[in-house]
Amino acid sequence: MPLVTSTEMFKKAYKGGYAIGAFNVNNMETIQGIVEAGKECNSPLILQVSAGARKYANPVYLKHLIQAAVETTGLPIVMHLDHGADFEACKSAIDDGFTSVMIDASHHAFKENIEITKKVVEYAHERGVVVEAELGQLAGIEDAVNVKAEDANFTQPDEVCEFTEKTGCDSLAIAIGTSHGAYKFKPGQKPQLRFDILEEVGKRLPGFPIVLHGASSVPQDRVAIINQYGGKMPDAIGIPEEMLRKAASMAVCKINIDSDLRVACTAAIRKHFFEHPDHFDPRQYLGDARAAVKEIVKHKIMDVLGSNDKA
Ligand code: G3H
Ligand code: 13P
Ligand code: ZN
Repeated sequence: MPLVTSTEMFKKAYKGGYAIGAFNVNNMETIQGIVEAGKECNSPLILQVSAGARKYANPVYLKHLIQAAVETTGLPIVMHLDHGADFEACKSAIDDGFTSVMIDASHHAFKENIEITKKVVEYAHERGVVVEAELGQLAGIEDAVNVKAEDANFTQPDEVCEFTEKTGCDSLAIAIGTSHGAYKFKPGQKPQLRFDILEEVGKRLPGFPIVLHGASSVPQDRVAIINQYGGKMPDAIGIPEEMLRKAASMAVCKINIDSDLRVACTAAIRKHFFEHPDHFDPRQYLGDARAAVKEIVKHKIMDVLGSNDKA
C-alpha cells in the first residue's frame, strides 16, 4: 500500500470513538520502533515531520525512511508535515510527496489565519493532499517558538464554523489546555483539560476531525529512570492518559506524541550506558532506544488511542 491521506482513517476513527497516533520522527530508530509497534498492533499510523526534523535529518533521508516503513509494513501510513509555518513550508512538503500538511497560522489574527490556511488548502487539495489547521494557541516549545503559558489561548467554539467553512481545512487542531514539551503542568497543579470546549466544538462541527497537539503523558517511570541514571528532568509532567482516552472517544481523531518518544529513548540510552560503560557501538544503545520507542507506542495504541486492529 502506498502512503495514504488521513481522510479514511479519520472517518473510521470518528465513528469508532478512537484516535490515530501521530508520532514525530527524526531518525531511523524512532521510525522503526513506531512502525514495528504499528505492525504488531495492526494499527494505522501518522508519521509526522517538523521543520526541525527536516533540518536535522535532511528531508530526503526522512522521506525515504518513511517510504521504507510503508514498504516493509504494508500499513496505512500518512506522511504529515507538523507545524508548517507558512505557505512555502507547506508547498515544499506537498511538492516533496507529503500526503498531509499542517499549516499553523494560529499565532496570526483570525482573519489572517483564514487567509493563509485557505491558500494552503487550495494548493494542497489540487494535489490530493489534506490540510490540518489550528485555532487557538498552545503553550510550550515547538521548533524555535516558545509560547509562554500566559500567552496561550483556548480555542473559541464561536469561531470554528466560520474558520472551517472559509478555509476548507480537513481537520482542526484546538487548544484546550494541552501544551508542547515535557513540562506541561507545575508540581502540585491539577492537570486539567477544557472538555467543555471540546464538547462544544464537537457539537458545532459534527463529524469533523479534531486534533490534539501537546498530548504526551511524560511517563513517570521513564522520567525516574532518566533521573536515576544521571539525567535531570525534575517536575516533568504530562497529560494523564485517561484524559486522552476520553478525548479520543469524543471528536479527537489525531493525537500528537513526540515528548514521550524522546523521554523513552533518553531513559533507555542513559540506562544502557550506566549498565554497560564499556559499550561504544551505537547499535547497542540505539537498539535499546528503538525497543523503548516500540514499547511505548504499543502501549499508546492499545491502552490510550484504541487504534489497534483498525489498519
Ligand atoms: O510540536 C512540536 C514537535 O514536538 C516537534 O518538535 O520542532 O523540536 O522537532 P521539534
Ligand atoms: P508533545 O510535546 O506533548 O509530545 O506534543 C507533540 C506535538 O504536538 C507535535 O506537534
Ligand atoms: Zn504540535
